[in-house]
Amino acid sequence: MRIVMIGSGYVGLVSGACFADFGHHVTCVDKSEAKINALEAGEVPIYEPGLEAIIQQNRSAGRLDFSKNLAPSVGEADVVFIAVGTPSRRGDGHADLSYVYAAAREIAAAVRGFTVVVTKSTVPVGTGDEIERIFRDEFPEKDISVVSNPEFLREGAAITDFKRPDRIVIGTEDTRAVEVMREVYRPLYLNEAPLYFCERRTSELIKYAANAFLAMKITFINEIADLSEKIGADVQKVAKGIGMDKRIGDKFLHAGPGYGGSCFPKDTLALVKTAQDFDSPVRLIETTVAINDNRKRAMGRKVIAACDGDVRGKKIAVLGLTFKPNTDDMRDAPSLTIIQALLDGGATVHAYDPEGMDAAKDMLGPVIYGNDPYEIAAGADAIVIVTEWDEFRALDLKRLKTIMKKPVIVDLRNIYPVNEVTKYGFGYFAVGRKPEKV
Ligand code: UDX
Repeated sequence: MRIVMIGSGYVGLVSGACFADFGHHVTCVDKSEAKINALEAGEVPIYEPGLEAIIQQNRSAGRLDFSKNLAPSVGEADVVFIAVGTPSRRGDGHADLSYVYAAAREIAAAVRGFTVVVTKSTVPVGTGDEIERIFRDEFPEKDISVVSNPEFLREGAAITDFKRPDRIVIGTEDTRAVEVMREVYRPLYLNEAPLYFCERRTSELIKYAANAFLAMKITFINEIADLSEKIGADVQKVAKGIGMDKRIGDKFLHAGPGYGGSCFPKDTLALVKTAQDFDSPVRLIETTVAINDNRKRAMGRKVIAACDGDVRGKKIAVLGLTFKPNTDDMRDAPSLTIIQALLDGGATVHAYDPEGMDAAKDMLGPVIYGNDPYEIAAGADAIVIVTEWDEFRALDLKRLKTIMKKPVIVDLRNIYPVNEVTKYGFGYFAVGRKPEKV
């Protein structure tokens, strides 16, 4: 198959590289000349474990190339994926589809024979219909079938998620497109990953409903965490206890500082807006969005409370800035709100993150960055673990105790067993577990 991927951002690059790895010929297109030049020079603009190696292998095998110009490759393609950004529109929270429609028009102009055009970007229900209308009205001579095929990749685990998916959702009722999509995913299909075919609108809604459900699940356990703390229960054990019920499942029940990232905040908001437009409000999701926003601020207050209610003039060491580990992504990261609250409270904030500091520098105020946890912990009044990078799981607590001004750890990811920390004499404040004061 000849595949063209429009948009070489996170989703486009990962999907493009993995399709090439399946044996297809893939061209990844992007309007950004700088991005294409970098990719052609062998540089991968995002941090994703395993991606660079797959890109390199498939480029040398001649199955993957990059281009600024979509027309030549689209003319030859069997399938064209649209994987451009759909940011939240300023002001109203709706997904901004201008890049999607612009790409669709350019694709239609370049298409020659029968071509399947697939939306990979997360797009509101009805976008496929609108693209089809554009094709029908403006390019009536072209033979194009519009399909929805949402992605469910998690940053940091995207390659595995792509190659071992729980399911592949494909929204089309056109038998010609069904055949093409079966061929595209043949290696996975042979691996027995279920291909789930449904109507296009259903497929578009599946993506939003899946992300909203997961965001709601996290928010649920976060509220149970707050309650656990108040009534002296341990949220991790509550999560384990309910998760053993197969109807609930044990995934996405880690209490923490609130969800962030490029998908959950944006997609929950977009679903809320769509539902309001259709006069069918999704109140659970509206509430989820509000609770999660409040939570990030509440985590700032939690740190301040752990510092005896006042951080003025104190040094706080923040470990982890990205919205989760194994990514350099800072979008909607809880650290942004937490650090702002600490700065507003008059603290001096020192921070360290293995991958996120470059991006953080553009988004955060006056923060001092260090090269490792111990450098920023020296003389600190408290350490705050905001992201659960592996390298924070085995900190030398004995050493930290000697270099910190006050032995206080606020662990917003619950990565330490309470007794391990308290035996060194630390005050330990986790999420949904009894606070241990020094
Ligand atoms: C998510 C979806 O998982 C993926 O299917 C979709 O395609 C894109 O959005 P991603 O944003 O990369 O992926 O990260 P994910 O691992 O889902 O985590 C999202 C946020 O939820 C992070 O801030 C994470 O820290 C938080 N989270 C996740 C929790 O707080 N608790 C959990 O139990 C799980």
